[in-house]
Amino acid sequence: MAILIDGKKTSEQIKSEIASRVAEIKASGGKIPHLAAVLVGEDGASQTYVGAKVKACEQVGFQSTLVRLDADITEDALLHEVQRINDDADIDGLIVQLPLPKHISVEKVTAKIKPEKDVDGFTPANVGRMALNWPTYVSATPYGILELLKRYEIETSGKHCVVIGRSHIVGSPMSILMARNDYPGNCTVTITHSRTKDLAEIAKSADILIVALGRPEFVTAEMVKEGAVVIDVGIHRVADESKKSGFRLIGDVKFDEVASKASAITPVPGGVGPMTIASLLYNTLLAAERKIYP
Ligand code: GUN
Repeated sequence: MAILIDGKKTSEQIKSEIASRVAEIKASGGKIPHLAAVLVGEDGASQTYVGAKVKACEQVGFQSTLVRLDADITEDALLHEVQRINDDADIDGLIVQLPLPKHISVEKVTAKIKPEKDVDGFTPANVGRMALNWPTYVSATPYGILELLKRYEIETSGKHCVVIGRSHIVGSPMSILMARNDYPGNCTVTITHSRTKDLAEIAKSADILIVALGRPEFVTAEMVKEGAVVIDVGIHRVADESKKSGFRLIGDVKFDEVASKASAITPVPGGVGPMTIASLLYNTLLAAERKIYP
């Protein structure tokens, strides 16, 4: 049976480290980190995520500002709002929750965020810095995965890392980060996607398998090498009448059968998910302390 990589516990540890740092800052009369989150429209999942981010800010002693805007806001008005926050000296970190309504260009809005405040690490400047292995805000999910690998002391050098999925938010940055000359990193990386031939065979050659495809229980035991480390980024609701909520959460990996083959695995829920908010808080602390852009 695999070691369970506990993202819930690790994220609580990180939050408590951040809270201690905030207490030190307060005691020395320094500036309290301040995160602004922009939420456009009424998307249920986005409301939940942003609510959790604001709550986590309170938990560690950060200041937070939630800017709620109507779904029919014009692109220009949203760009002005982003500029207003860019110019607000009290705000250290700024995130615009995605997805945005269809009439608004994600590229334009992302590019408008001041790189110094881009604690999501989504701007071209910060993605470029990440690719160059310069100091930057690594976006939440990739940073959370790196931190799990580090804190569970998983050897990565010389390993074959297979990434399933090429999204801008997870698969693509993960493939770059795992190949860089650093720890975690120094892997031989294969990035795979919907057009990949022989995906099962490639997955089976992975020492470290990172699955961010967005297909429920896509990875089965036959696709995993004995002793592999498996990181499951997927999260899906499936109906389950035995639960009070009427649903349960599953990942992109068929957990039970893969866990019996892997040497370490992240569960869903309680794996990568909780780490993302801890990562965002960490980046906001870096922003407040001017660690990336001195
Ligand atoms: N939507 C889904 N994940 C994210 C994230 O990490 N940041 C933002 N801003 N929006 C998201």
